[in-house]
Amino acid sequence: MRVLVLGNGGREHALAWKLSMSPLVTDLYAIPGNPGIARVASIEDVSDPVGIAKWARDNQIDLTVVGPEYLLSVGIADIFAEYGLKLFGPSKEAATLESSKVFSKELMRKYGIPTAGFAVFSRFDEAKQYLEGKDCPLVIKADGLAGGKGVVVAKNKAEAISALQSIMIDRVFGEAGNFVVIEDFLEGKEVSVFALVNGDKVIPLVDARDYKAAYDGGEGPNTGGMGAYSPVEDYTDELSRRVYEEILEPTALGMVNEGRPFRGILYAGLMISPEGDPYVLEYNVRFGDPEAEVVLPRLKSDLLEAIVALMDGRTVELEWEGSCVGVVLVSKGYPKEYEVGYPIKGLERVQDVLVFHAGTAMKEGELVTAGGRVLVVSALGKDREEARQKAYEAVSLIEFVGMEFRSDIGRN
Ligand code: AMP
Ligand code: GLY
Repeated sequence: MRVLVLGNGGREHALAWKLSMSPLVTDLYAIPGNPGIARVASIEDVSDPVGIAKWARDNQIDLTVVGPEYLLSVGIADIFAEYGLKLFGPSKEAATLESSKVFSKELMRKYGIPTAGFAVFSRFDEAKQYLEGKDCPLVIKADGLAGGKGVVVAKNKAEAISALQSIMIDRVFGEAGNFVVIEDFLEGKEVSVFALVNGDKVIPLVDARDYKAAYDGGEGPNTGGMGAYSPVEDYTDELSRRVYEEILEPTALGMVNEGRPFRGILYAGLMISPEGDPYVLEYNVRFGDPEAEVVLPRLKSDLLEAIVALMDGRTVELEWEGSCVGVVLVSKGYPKEYEVGYPIKGLERVQDVLVFHAGTAMKEGELVTAGGRVLVVSALGKDREEARQKAYEAVSLIEFVGMEFRSDIGRN
């Protein structure tokens, strides 16, 4: 099969790396790719979604796998469908599961999928009045995509009102703030779960936990993710069975019932309550980054075979191994201002880990930094402690000017 991966981050490097090992693949391509992906795939330079679809048609691509949400939200799956091309990723309508909190909360309510209690508002005065009868903390969410900044956990009424004010009156997220969801605060531990989905068919992947805060101990601003590990030990087999039955399958069936069948990687961000019950905090319509970089190394089975089976309406059992810890190396200053263009040294010394490229580039034959998140060092071990030690040992051999990372990934 001729396979194409779309995207250029660590997540897409992990996807391309895993797909490249499939005996079903004859040729693997990536658009736009990065220097890490270039080791396992041929990189093509095509820009807009229609251009990519034309390229895929002209190059007889049998299957395209999409990494990032922005391509999905602009309807890459719909464009590929118009060209009669197979693509593993949701249509624009199905991607609403991530792009509208109101849609996803109402879907959960309709299909009895466990989630925090909520109410939806389009008028500031009504939202403010609703607060009167509620206890804090409360969670205020802008309906639309807000670059990960649209959620405020308000500790008191003043914070809640100020969040409503900035979303609904100052309109800091523009149209994404036409509606707000006010949600009950849930206590517990967060875990991310993933599944390959096509319509009513679901192949569950495994769980992971990511580290959003920039600095050790959960301090500092939120980032795209500073590291992750898989599996999460307190996420038991019993819980995983319940999540399949109470969340993943009803979500897939609900989407079919709504006339928006989902195809692609479904990511459910869960809160596990102190009583051990799972609740959905949010859905994403793509793999997590850096979660993909710790989930895929554990997969013993052929990812492509599983996707092909699903596209044909069949499910398969997947086999998993070990424990994986991934540490993200970032440019000093990330997630705010940072500098790029610094040579990355020491990669040739690193052994027994996977180094996924996130923000790298080639400059005059040399690998240099080109983004906030630069590399993800993922190590597989028999348990989390072994994986963590291997990952940090490798990290200590890599250097670039301004290199920063959290030192507590996988520790807890
Ligand atoms: P979301 O984008 O909806 O996942 O929200 C981003 C983050 O806000 C989550 O990862 C949680 O840490 C937190 N959060 C969202 N909703 C809730 C909730 N109902 N209770 C507690 N924390 C929440
Ligand atoms: N690591 C969180 C995300 O991919 O959204």
